[in-house]
Amino acid sequence: TAPILSNLSDLRTLRQTWARAGEVVGLVPTMGALHAGHLSLVAAAKEQCDRVVVTIFVNPRQFNKAEDLENYPRTEQEDAQKLAPYGVDAIFVPQPDEVYPEGYATNISVGGVTDVLEGAFRPGHFDGVATVVAKLFLMTGADKAYFGQKDYQQLMLVSRMARDLNMAIDVVGCPTVREASGLAMSSRNLRLSPEALDRAATLNRVMRDAAERASQNGTPWQTLRDDALSQIAAAGFGEVEYFDLRCAETLESLETPDRPARLLAAAWMEGVRLIDNIAVPAN
Ligand code: PAJ
Repeated sequence: TAPILSNLSDLRTLRQTWARAGEVVGLVPTMGALHAGHLSLVAAAKEQCDRVVVTIFVNPRQFNKAEDLENYPRTEQEDAQKLAPYGVDAIFVPQPDEVYPEGYATNISVGGVTDVLEGAFRPGHFDGVATVVAKLFLMTGADKAYFGQKDYQQLMLVSRMARDLNMAIDVVGCPTVREASGLAMSSRNLRLSPEALDRAATLNRVMRDAAERASQNGTPWQTLRDDALSQIAAAGFGEVEYFDLRCAETLESLETPDRPARLLAAAWMEGVRLIDNIAVPAN
């Protein structure tokens, strides 16, 4: 099994031996509680890189609710076991005070894509993500980094930041891995009852239906959206924070997918906040 490192100096030593051998290093940043979605990123990294580092760090700066941070699952031993078959080269699990030592004062804030949707509903979240991802890039010195489309805005933000700050790293986006029901895999699904897990799959089913009808043209988006919202409510979801048709590139709101678009949604089920997004082909 891969060595679990918690000191940055140990990781740097390893990184130097790889650099001397001219090896390409891939990074998969995670917050642990690994599932098949995370593991698909690890598999992609293994395929494309000589060395793979998985980081597990539940980043306090990106949680805008204290209880979400406290409830976030922590399953480090199981995570290491799940990674064993992939032959990753290191699992980096830094301590919070090594990432944010006393007196830590630097924040990274990426504009534009972070103003809407998740950014609007989770104040401070994306600054926390940008800051920790920049730090993970610098700590690992990776050549490539793997992110899921499940967190669509996060992927956009990381790509934007890497370009804007001339970071010498390739940001690679990977498709969302789903349960057979269509439900996007998420560590937060662990907090749903078996019955709610079933009902949660309605979100993706309704999204696919709305996306298909939007691409076919004809019905106004508002009508499709109202229809979708009533089906989501009927499945036992609580508040739907957004269910929006947006430009896939700029995230501006669209009335119709007259260019490559994305349908993005966030909704609550049993006190758990679920998000999903899918492509909407231009009509
Ligand atoms: P976490 O939620 O653990 O996700 C780690 C990576 O796995 C992210 O790139 C996320 O998009 C991807 N992922 C999660 N569920 C997925 C799924 N069902 N299919 C494909 N990929 C999936 O995202 C974070 O952690 C953090 O914000 C992090 C980037 C680690 C910074 O703290």
